[in-house]
Amino acid sequence: MSTSSKAGVQTYKNFINGKWVPAVSGATFPVYDPSTEEVIAQVASAAAPDVDQAVAAARAAFDSGPWPATTAQDRGKILHKLADKIRQNTARLADIESRNSGKPIIEAEYDIADVATCFEYYAGLANKVMGHVNPVPANALSFTLREPVGVAAQIIPWNYPLLMAAWKLAPAIAAGCTCILKPAEQTPLTAIEIANYFEEAGLPPGVVNILNGLGETTGAALVAHPGVDKVAFTGSAAVGKIIVKSAADTLKRVTLELGGKSPNIFFPDADWEAAVDGALFGVFINQGEVCSAGSRILVEKSIYSKFVEAMTEKTKRIKLGAPLERETKMGPLVSKEQYDRVSSYLEIGKKEAKVAIGGGRPKQFGKGYYLEPTIFYDVDNSARIAREEIFGPVASVIPFDGESEAIRIANDTPYGLAAAVWTRDIYKAFRVVKSLRAGIVWVNHMQPTYVEAPWGGYKQSGFGRELGPWGLEEYLETKQVFVNLDETPIAWY
Ligand code: NAI
Ligand code: MG
Repeated sequence: MSTSSKAGVQTYKNFINGKWVPAVSGATFPVYDPSTEEVIAQVASAAAPDVDQAVAAARAAFDSGPWPATTAQDRGKILHKLADKIRQNTARLADIESRNSGKPIIEAEYDIADVATCFEYYAGLANKVMGHVNPVPANALSFTLREPVGVAAQIIPWNYPLLMAAWKLAPAIAAGCTCILKPAEQTPLTAIEIANYFEEAGLPPGVVNILNGLGETTGAALVAHPGVDKVAFTGSAAVGKIIVKSAADTLKRVTLELGGKSPNIFFPDADWEAAVDGALFGVFINQGEVCSAGSRILVEKSIYSKFVEAMTEKTKRIKLGAPLERETKMGPLVSKEQYDRVSSYLEIGKKEAKVAIGGGRPKQFGKGYYLEPTIFYDVDNSARIAREEIFGPVASVIPFDGESEAIRIANDTPYGLAAAVWTRDIYKAFRVVKSLRAGIVWVNHMQPTYVEAPWGGYKQSGFGRELGPWGLEEYLETKQVFVNLDETPIAWY
């Protein structure tokens, strides 16, 4: 695999307390273009001393200075300005995102639009946070104040880099928290880019710090740091478990979004073309690097063979290509590591099931981490390709016999992030919806996600919810204020 020398590529710093600073050690790590395998940037690699600086900055900004004095209206205005800056720079941000992550440019443009919408949503929500008056007996008054939880460490993945940053930063800012965002080491460039907008938007120094580095060092040090009050994480279940254990030492608040092995269920009465498209879109969009990928495709036996055939035929028409070409529907995987991981699952799958299409590297690309969209069929739900999150363009098609078997197979997984069901029968649709253990169930669609509605997992897909008012809630504490209205002495002795 080719690499280019350190010379000639730009080196980016960390953003701490409103300033760009190199790592204390001077270390950097390389960032790649996954379609060329070339190094496109070097980024400051934070270790414990940098984490200390970032936490100190976020702590100070939370405890004193202009930020605690801002009103909810002020914070809403800041979020609106960030949204405006992001929208004005859509083309530039989408270009960086597509180059760095390998996702098709049209997908990157949708993502950036969603990023701006997310900041706008929380801009509007900032001054709608209200406490309650609690119905205690008449000799007292009790009410609740909603207060920011404090310093939030936000650790995000590489599949939707700036969107995951937005889902974490926007509600935290609205709530009045301060943040240390650690982008994935594969895809730090868009988060670095938007830090350039912070001062103009009115964010005081230290409120949002962008700290880059590796998960095992920078991420782990943030999670363990006593100056951090909350960890918000999106990524692998394996790292989620490490985070919960480490955060236990300081009893931080933790929210986790850990992906899944989501079932996409097809009954014979579904709209045929929409169903076949929905199966492919559900699993192959964003190269299958999607936490809610519909990677287990459950099809009723009476249509099973025809459905696999139709999926196979349509898969041939999916355009693989360079991320920046507008016709491209699937680009390369994000990194060599992910390419190797998914490739190893392709070999496992060939032993566990039959291949309808794909199964390896597409021949037309000399370089880049491209993999063919792959459909395995006659997959047993106990197979590794049906149980483990692959996070690449790999579908496992599983036959079922009737509604109750579909539900049983769908729920037979440690995960519970998402599910979808395709049928024209509303009785059946809603019976299935109620039976599935997942944080979202789509009916006759798969993947649309709106900032107004909650997002998060059941079971080992994590806990806590992002987006909507639920997402803001995770950044708030509840303080009860009790006022005694009875002047009679207590006289308890
Ligand atoms: P990962 O879970 O290792 O990385 C996600 C984030 O966590 C990155 O920012 C990383 O630097 C950080 N991190 C890693 N180890 C850490 C630690 N010990 N303490 C604190 N932070 C840490 O994911 P990775 O290795 O990139 O991908 C592995 C698998 O994880 C994928 O194949 C996929 O199955 C799953 N994944 C799920 C995602 C989701 O959206 N739910 C997103 C990315 C990966
Ligand atoms: Mg990892």
